[in-house]
Amino acid sequence: MFSVLRPFLFNLDPETAHDLAIKSLKFNPFPSKMFEVEDEQMLNIQLLGKNFPNPIGLAAGFDKSAEAYNSLLKLGFGFVEIGTVTPSKQFGNPKPRIFRLEGDHALINRLGFNNDGMKIIKARIKSDRKKGILGVNIGPNKETKDQKNDFCLGLKNFFDIADYITINISSPNTEGLRDFHDQEKLIDLIAALNKIKKDNAANIPLLLKISPDINNSHIPEISDAAKKNNISAIILTNTTNGNRDKLTSEFKEEEGGLSGDPLHQISTNMIKKFYKELDSKIPIIGVGGVNSGKSAYEKIIAGASLLQLYTGFVYRGPSAAKDIKKELIQILKYEGIKNIKDAIGKGI
Ligand SMILES: Cc1cc2nc3c(=O)[nH]c(=O)nc-3n(C[C@H](O)[C@H](O)[C@H](O)COP(=O)(O)O)c2cc1C
Repeated sequence: MFSVLRPFLFNLDPETAHDLAIKSLKFNPFPSKMFEVEDEQMLNIQLLGKNFPNPIGLAAGFDKSAEAYNSLLKLGFGFVEIGTVTPSKQFGNPKPRIFRLEGDHALINRLGFNNDGMKIIKARIKSDRKKGILGVNIGPNKETKDQKNDFCLGLKNFFDIADYITINISSPNTEGLRDFHDQEKLIDLIAALNKIKKDNAANIPLLLKISPDINNSHIPEISDAAKKNNISAIILTNTTNGNRDKLTSEFKEEEGGLSGDPLHQISTNMIKKFYKELDSKIPIIGVGGVNSGKSAYEKIIAGASLLQLYTGFVYRGPSAAKDIKKELIQILKYEGIKNIKDAIGKGI
C-alpha cells in the first residue's frame, strides 16, 4: 500500500507529508498482530529494567508532541521516543525546514524543536495510556536564559510518566546546546538531574544523546562522565552538520542536520569507539541510517544493544519496523545466533 502512496507523499513538501502521516496514524486501524513477525522472540531483549519486545525503536523527532505513539508502537516498534520536548511550546525555525534528499536516501532538517510544550504533552500522555515502552526526549527552549534549568524542568515534568528520559545535548539546530559535550558542563548538568531524581526518589533511567560531530578526545571524557554519574544508556547519534561532499541532491547545502544513509557509517564508527571506551558498563542505542536488517545488524555487532530510526521510516513506510525485524531474524539465523543479545559487539 505504501508503495502506491509513496509517489503522492513524496510529491508533498516533507513537513506537510509528515503532518499528514501523524494525522493518519492517529487513526491507525490495523491490529498490532499484523506487524509482528515469526520468531520475534529472538529479538527480545532486557535493558533499562524493561523487557523490549524487539530492539527497533522509533527515534526522537517523528512524534515530537506525543500525538501518535500508541499507533507507532502498533506498527511493530519495540519502543518509541517522543520529543524533543521543551518546557514551553515553540514554533521552531521558519519553513521550509525539512528537505528530502531522495537520491541520497537522506533528510536534512533544521526544525529547531517545534513542539507543544511539556504541560500539554504530559496531559496527552496521561490521557492515552502507553501500550509499550515510551521514552521522552527533553531539551531547552530557544529563548531560554538557562538551558540547564530547562532540562531540569523537563525531568521534573516527565519522571513519573516516562520509561526513560533522554537528555538531548546534540541537536545542531539549537544554539549552544552542543556545548554540553564539554565534560565539565556535562557533569554539572547530569549532577543537577541526578539531584532531582534523588529528591523525588525517582528511579527513572537517564539517557544521553550524543552528536556525531564531536572530536575523538570527547569520547573518553563523555564515557567517563556517564559511567561515574549513573547514566543508563548512550544514544549514538543525532544528525550531522558534516559529510555533504558526496551528496547528489539539490538540497545538499541546506543548513541543518543530515540523517539517513550518509550518517550510517559515521554513527556506526562512533558506536565502535564508545563501545570500547564504555567497556560494557553502559549500553548503547545505535541511531543513524538504520533502514534494513543489514544496517541494523552492523550497528548491533558494532556494540549497540538497541536501535532507533527516523529517516528509514520515512523511506520504507509503515512496514519499516516489521521488514527490518524480519530481515534481522534472517541474518541471526544465518549466523547461527539464537538471540539478538548474543550479537552485541560481536564485530569488535
Ligand atoms: C526531521 C527530523 C527531526 C528530528 N528531531 C529530533 C529531535 O527533536 N530530537 C532528537 O533528539 N533528534 C531528532 N532527530 C534526530 C533523529 O532522532 C536521529 O537521531 C537521526 O535522524 C539519525 O537517525 P536516522 O538516520 O534514522 O534518521 C530528528 C531527525 C529528523 C530527520
